[in-house]
Amino acid sequence: MKLEDAKLLAALAGLDVELRSGVSLASLTSLGIGGTTDLLRLRRHETIPEVVRLLDEQGIAHRFLGGGSNLLVRDGELPWVVLQLARAEQEVRIEGNIVEVDAAADLGRTVTYCAKNNLGGMEGLIGVPGTVGGALRMNAGAYGMQIGSYVREVTVYRAASRRIETLRGEQISFEYRHTSFAPDDMMLAVKLELPSKPFREILDGIRICNEKRRSSQPLNQKSAGCIFKNPPGASAGRMIDELGLKGHAVGGARVSERHANFFVNAGNATSADMLALIADVRERVRAAYGFELENEVVIWNE
Ligand code: EPU
Repeated sequence: MKLEDAKLLAALAGLDVELRSGVSLASLTSLGIGGTTDLLRLRRHETIPEVVRLLDEQGIAHRFLGGGSNLLVRDGELPWVVLQLARAEQEVRIEGNIVEVDAAADLGRTVTYCAKNNLGGMEGLIGVPGTVGGALRMNAGAYGMQIGSYVREVTVYRAASRRIETLRGEQISFEYRHTSFAPDDMMLAVKLELPSKPFREILDGIRICNEKRRSSQPLNQKSAGCIFKNPPGASAGRMIDELGLKGHAVGGARVSERHANFFVNAGNATSADMLALIADVRERVRAAYGFELENEVVIWNE
């Protein structure tokens, strides 16, 4: 979608929004798949309600993009524009055990920054690509921990009320790869409370997690992490592996040889290739094991 209305463009510029025309979502997602649209980068996060109001007024649909690391976007000319928070200079502020982070901050860098300030707990998330906001929305977790456990407060733009709201941790439910946020809520900032730990000890934990991840996941290939959630008491990766599907491909989309719940873009995979591979593997797992695998990856297919 291309924004052309001169009045709208002027109003957006007045709100300090940077417009990047005709951006390929393939360049903004870790899968390297996705069509083209205009990207609006918000330099002042508090302008979100006004930006959304302006777009709504003209009937222009929008989507919020985080780090693009858990996302499969459809091909072609996209029928909506994409909004993304621009990164601030100082993204993380620490006071005692409380860490206030902008949603646009890189997750890995945030974990490392906290470690340097002797604040731990998030070691498992090292190596998870994406932003703090994205991790929060999905309740990202690994190696026995999840980010939701440390959340004290979240500042979020709520599409339902069209306002920026601050929610206490207890007002949000964090479940396995699921939160009570609506799909069109946009994370803006979070306050985490992290346990004190000596830097050296945190570093040891980080090294162990890094090593485990390197040995079991295809980190040097284009992927969106795990495609399916694990059903209760079972492992999607193990089931797909047991069915002999490592290397199974549709066009350029392929089940990773290293971890069967990672589907990689092995060449010029299209969204249609990836969707067909997901449907095929889901059907085979259902037929063999009776589990209806749920997507872990977020799909923007409309
Ligand atoms: N396994 C296989 N073959 C495979 C993959 C895994 O046999 O191809 C076996 C492993 O040997 C292991 C079991 O399956 O015994 C579980 O595998 P793993 O330890 O890799 O964990 P997972 O359940 O597949 C989950 C998360 C990952 C997270 C890791 C580490 C989900 C869907 N996945 O993977 O998260 O990094 O644990 O904690 O919950 C993600 O969310 O995108 C993601 C990658």
